[in-house]
Amino acid sequence: MSITSLGEGRTGPAHAKVTTHTIQEKKLRREPITCLTAYDYATSRLVDEAGIDMILVGDSLAQVVLGYDNTLPVTMEEMLHHTRAVRRAVRSAMVIADMPFGAYHGDVNDGVRNALRFVKEAGAEAVKLEGGEKRVELVKRVLDAEVPVMGHIGLTPQSVHKMGGYKVQGKNLTDIERLMKDAIALDRAGVFSLVLEGVPREVAAMISNEVSTPTIGIGAGPDCDGQVLVFHDILNMTFAPPAKFVRRYGDAAALISNAVQQFKADVESGSYPSDEESYHLPKDTKAVLDAIYARKQMKAGKAVLSI
Ligand code: KIV
Repeated sequence: MSITSLGEGRTGPAHAKVTTHTIQEKKLRREPITCLTAYDYATSRLVDEAGIDMILVGDSLAQVVLGYDNTLPVTMEEMLHHTRAVRRAVRSAMVIADMPFGAYHGDVNDGVRNALRFVKEAGAEAVKLEGGEKRVELVKRVLDAEVPVMGHIGLTPQSVHKMGGYKVQGKNLTDIERLMKDAIALDRAGVFSLVLEGVPREVAAMISNEVSTPTIGIGAGPDCDGQVLVFHDILNMTFAPPAKFVRRYGDAAALISNAVQQFKADVESGSYPSDEESYHLPKDTKAVLDAIYARKQMKAGKAVLSI
């Protein structure tokens, strides 16, 4: 760990605090809403300082940070742990915690309790949960508990087994009707925003027009009220070919890999650390230390001769 504190260099929030109201007003003003996932202090701080509106501590954590094949194994404790790290970094963006699989799929009371844990124990300002009409009761109960809710419909990764894989949703009339009903039900229940994942552009556009809540698309085309992407996707940190909708904005994998290889080479060649990269004793302390060392060497019978 560096001696430099990670908290240094803060001068206060660079951007105005984003709230559920900001997000809703943006839809009314037709201003695009930005959202990225993040899972740790350093990257959340960069995302926040760049002025992104919302940071989602997504359960994609399971895959991009913890190395699981899908989002299902990530636990409440792991999500809380990472949400706390994000909370410590973020000053302006809204911090939303993703409810992990199993945290709200049984008893509604458990769902409410888990939503409250994200606010009370990790400082989240809202929670996200997957599913449409069938989540209406839970959404209302979580809202009654004063916790804003972001909905999520379309390709819902926690339903991967039921969906039979990660497939674009809403491609036939029956599915489109289902999606529209889900969106309207969540809108009426009071979600402050709604993620539309993996749906045809035309369907996302219809839903965005129909509901008053802001829609946040991922693989849902440009007509949503905002867009969300996974942080590791936009930086080429996922070790797999990207989905069609991912745009890469940088190559952090190459950057990190080059830096690590260079460090290895420098240590192995002896060029790191240099004298300039070393701490030094004050001159008088060094003189005393040299004298003590020389006396010790003499006593041990090793002549310290300077000819
Ligand atoms: O977990 C996640 O990353 C998500 C997406 C909407 C980005 O749920």
